[in-house]
Amino acid sequence: GIIILDFGSQYNQLIARRIRELGVYSEVLPFNTSIEDILARNPSGIILSGGPSSVNAENAHLVDRALFEKGIPVLGICYGMQLTTHLLGGTVKKGEKGEYGKAKFEILKSNPLLSGVSRFSTVWMSHFDEVENVPEGFVSNGTTDVISAISDESKKIYCVQFHPEVSHTEEGARMIENFVFNICKAPKDWKLTNYIDKTVAEIKEKVGDQKVILGLSGGVDSSVAAVLIHKAIGDQLQCIFVDTGLLRKDEAEKVMKNYGEHFHLNIKLIDAKDRFMTKLKGVSDPEAKRKIIGNEFVVVFDEESHKIEGAKFLAQGTIYPDVIESQSVKGPSAVIKSHHNVGGLPEEMDFELLEPLRELFKDEVRKVGEELGIPHHLVHRHPFPGPGLGIRILGEVDEEKVKILQEADDIFIEELYKNNLYETVSQAFVVLLPVKSVGVMGDERTYEYTAVVRSANTTDFMTATFSKFPWEFLENVSNRIINEVKGINRIAYDISSKPPATIEWE
Ligand code: XMP
Repeated sequence: GIIILDFGSQYNQLIARRIRELGVYSEVLPFNTSIEDILARNPSGIILSGGPSSVNAENAHLVDRALFEKGIPVLGICYGMQLTTHLLGGTVKKGEKGEYGKAKFEILKSNPLLSGVSRFSTVWMSHFDEVENVPEGFVSNGTTDVISAISDESKKIYCVQFHPEVSHTEEGARMIENFVFNICKAPKDWKLTNYIDKTVAEIKEKVGDQKVILGLSGGVDSSVAAVLIHKAIGDQLQCIFVDTGLLRKDEAEKVMKNYGEHFHLNIKLIDAKDRFMTKLKGVSDPEAKRKIIGNEFVVVFDEESHKIEGAKFLAQGTIYPDVIESQSVKGPSAVIKSHHNVGGLPEEMDFELLEPLRELFKDEVRKVGEELGIPHHLVHRHPFPGPGLGIRILGEVDEEKVKILQEADDIFIEELYKNNLYETVSQAFVVLLPVKSVGVMGDERTYEYTAVVRSANTTDFMTATFSKFPWEFLENVSNRIINEVKGINRIAYDISSKPPATIEWE
């Protein structure tokens, strides 16, 4: 496959996904992975990713230049181009103004990477430093305002200053295909049906006749993991579903029906509503609520899992972005943790971990889920935070507020589905404010809660914009909630982007 060395670019996962979409295996490794480790994986090609630092900085993130001498094709992107230049004897200087966003790229002299790309095209730039002198043996293949593409064809080293993996780079997909197939001659060895067969066999082998425990949340990752493991070992899998009382409307019933009845998974449903509610009494600080909910979850799960005799494995729905994030070397990585899974489990548990999705990106997890027969709408659910409605009821949480919010949220989600809007947005929900306002209903004056309808569009959950719904849609959602949910008489729509706002309100 193709190895991507991670220098901290926010786009490096995207490169791997683009390559996998071509049917070629690709993985992301920290930039300081040893050459031996890299060679042991027998890569068809290596990509040096972008990154926030400067090659001229004192503690610049470098690689061994021997990497360029193994006959393995190399593609340097952004920082990767500057690094290649720097290590092979060229020079990189601080740019005068940097370039951010779209730029016009002109090919001066084509090469196999740029084969089939038009002479002028739009590319996506995000850099400050720039190449001043190309290394000996290299030619300059194209420019924006600066030298933007260089290569040494004899050594199969290709570099671009822009980001071919970003969709704003018009012909980026062609360049990646050129690299993967024409330059690296990488085999098409990545198929999700093979992945399922391979993983089922591995689980059988690893688990033998032992028992596996899994915390099922109803979310995409744990559900797909559960169904996949069940396919391998059947009833040796015991799922635990904890109803915290902070879930979406009828969530427990739905999970029991969708996965218990339909897929015949063994699910132990734990009704812990009262425990959570008692612990949350009088608490209004968001971080305090998060901690309480997270801790209580661990306590409940721990108790329940120890009641299951002879369980040796603990299965989790860890996916590849979690793995990349956890291995990313802190310095170069500008990765901001987008979420910390509650349902995260205590360190000292004496189980062996089983993580059958740890090689997959989210869209691949969804495909595997559908391949396993999980209905489309279930594998395309929006993410739901571990602390649940506990952080969507601002301030103190109580049962009455939970009930009100569940009803309102359910109406919003139902309308999104009805209008075919659900999958056009990344995350949508209702927030309940601890604010009452005056309204009028019939001849009566009302004094009830205000709720906020929130919907965000994002690819990475680190930046997001609010969803631009038609007014008529919002009007209908607002009317329905106010008319059907007792306790709410006013709806606001959140029109803030992230940053500086966040997606959740707490
Ligand atoms: P924010 O609100 O920070 O959220 O823009 C980004 C993403 O993270 C989710 N989120 C959480 N997930 N535990 C979780 O499991 C949490 O405490 C938590 N806080 C935020 C949020 O729903 C969004 O998808």
